[in-house]
Amino acid sequence: MNGERRALPSWTTGLSSRLLVLTIFFVMLSEVLIYVPSIARFRMTFLDAQLNSAFLASLALKATPDYMVSAELEGELLKNADVHMIVLKRPEFRTLMLGEEMPPTIDATFDMRGAAPVGLIVDAFDALLRGDRVIRVVGHVPDGAGFIEVVMDEAPLRAAMLAYSVNILNLSIVISLLTASLVYLSLHILMVRPMRRITESMVAFRKAPEAGSSVIARSARGDEIGTAERELATMQGDLRAALKQKTRLAALGSAVSKINHDLRNILATAHLVSDRLSGSDDPEVRRVTPTLIGAIDRAIGLCTQTLNFGRAEESPPNRQPFMLAELIDDVAAHVGLPPDGRVRWCNEVRDDFAVDADREQLFRVLLNLGRNAVEAMRAPGEVRIRAGTDGADVAVEVADTGPGLPEKSKENLFQPFAGSARAGGIGLGLVIARELVQAHGGDLALAKSDAGGTTFRIHLPGAAAPVAVPARQAG
Ligand SMILES: Nc1ncnc2c1ncn2[C@@H]1O[C@H](COP(=O)(O)OP(=O)(O)OP(=O)(O)O)[C@@H](O)[C@H]1O
Ligand SMILES: [Mg+2]
Repeated sequence: MNGERRALPSWTTGLSSRLLVLTIFFVMLSEVLIYVPSIARFRMTFLDAQLNSAFLASLALKATPDYMVSAELEGELLKNADVHMIVLKRPEFRTLMLGEEMPPTIDATFDMRGAAPVGLIVDAFDALLRGDRVIRVVGHVPDGAGFIEVVMDEAPLRAAMLAYSVNILNLSIVISLLTASLVYLSLHILMVRPMRRITESMVAFRKAPEAGSSVIARSARGDEIGTAERELATMQGDLRAALKQKTRLAALGSAVSKINHDLRNILATAHLVSDRLSGSDDPEVRRVTPTLIGAIDRAIGLCTQTLNFGRAEESPPNRQPFMLAELIDDVAAHVGLPPDGRVRWCNEVRDDFAVDADREQLFRVLLNLGRNAVEAMRAPGEVRIRAGTDGADVAVEVADTGPGLPEKSKENLFQPFAGSARAGGIGLGLVIARELVQAHGGDLALAKSDAGGTTFRIHLPGAAAPVAVPARQAG
C-alpha cells in the first residue's frame, strides 16, 4: 500500500503541482522586473503633467501689464494646478511667480531635467515609502524656453502611485494564474499523464511480471517519452520471455533431480546384483560382468553429478594446505586412462608444491578437466599438468595434445548442457569445474585450443600455501 503511494504521487507532491507553483513564481518575478522601471516612469509622467498644468496657470500672468493678478485669482490658479507655488523663468523677461502667502517649507527638490534612470527609480520608491513631503520640482517648459519650478504636496502623487501598483499586482496575479494553468495543463497532458502510465505499468509489471497485460502499450510518439515507452515495452517483453524460460528450466531441473535421485537408488541395487554376477560359474557371464559394472558405475556417477549441479549452491570451500602432486596422482587413477597406455598422464608438479584450497573440490575440478582431455584424445598423446605461483596466487594448467575443442563447445563454453559435443556427454563438467574454482575466488579459463591441443588454466588467488607441509613419501 505504502509502496504504491510512493510509486504514484498525489497531485500535491506530483510533478504538475510543482510546476504550477514554479510557473506562478516565475511569472510574478518577471512582473516585478517589469514593475520597477514602470513605477518610476509613472511618477515621471505624473510630475510632467503637474509641471504642464502649472505652466498653463502661469500664462495667465502674461495677460496683465505688470505681470500681477489679484490675490483671489492667484489662489484659484494655484488650486487648479494643485501646487503651492509656481516660478517660471524665461530668458527674455523677468521671472513670473505665483505663490501662496505663507508657502510651506520644502522637504526635497527634484530636478527632472536630465535625471538618470537609476535616480528616478530610487526617487520613485522614496516617494512610495515616505510620500507626505512638500517637494520642489524643476522641469523644462513645454516650448523649451527657460524652466519652471513648482512647490507641491507629494501625497497625491503617492496615492496615484499606490493605485497604479495595486493595479499592476492584480494584473500580475491574473497573468500568472492564467499562464500557470496553461503550463500545468499542457505539461499534464504531454508529460505527467504518460509518465504516470509508464509508472503504473512498472508497478503492474513488478507485481505480476508473467501477466501479458502488465506490458505497456507502445505509443507512436517520436519524443523522449515515446522512446521511454518503447524501451520499457521491449525490456518488459525481454524480461517476461527470460522469466518464462527460467521458470520452464527450473521446473525441468527439479523434475530431472527427482528422477535422478530415484534412478541412482535403482542403479545402486543393480550394482549390488551385478557384483554377485562376478562369482558366477558361467565364464561368459564373468567376462561381461566388469563391463556391466563399469557401465552402472558411470551411470551412478552421472546421476550424482547432475544432482550436485541441481543443488542451488556448493558448500563453501574448506581450505587446507596439501601437496598438489599427490592430488594429481589421485586424479590419474580416476580419469579413465585407456589400459593400452596410448594416453600418457604427465604430472609435472614438484613434489613439495603445496596449495591452500579445498582438496575435494580441486580433485573434482582436475578430474573433470583430465577426463575431458582423455576422452577427447583418439590418437596417442599426453596430458600434462603443470603448476606455478605468482606471488600468493597459484596457477594450474591442464594441457593435452588432443584435437582441440569442437566449434560447438567453443561457442557454448561454460554454458550448462549446451557445450557438450561428445556422445554421452551432458555438458556439465566444465560448468561445475568453473563454479568450484570461482568459489575459491579464482577462475577457470580456456588458455589455448587448436589442432595441437587444448589447455585450460586454473587461477587460484592466495592459494600458495604459506607453510611447508610434509613432503610426499616416495612411491
Ligand atoms: N580437452 C578437451 N579437448 C577437446 N574437447 C574438449 C576438451 N574439454 C572439453 N571439450 C569439449 O567441451 C565439451 C564440454 O565439456 P564438459 O566437460 O563441460 O561436458 P562433457 O564432457 O560433454 O559432459 P560431462 O558433463 O559429462 O563432463 C565436451 O563435450 C568436449 O566436446
Ligand atoms: Mg566433461
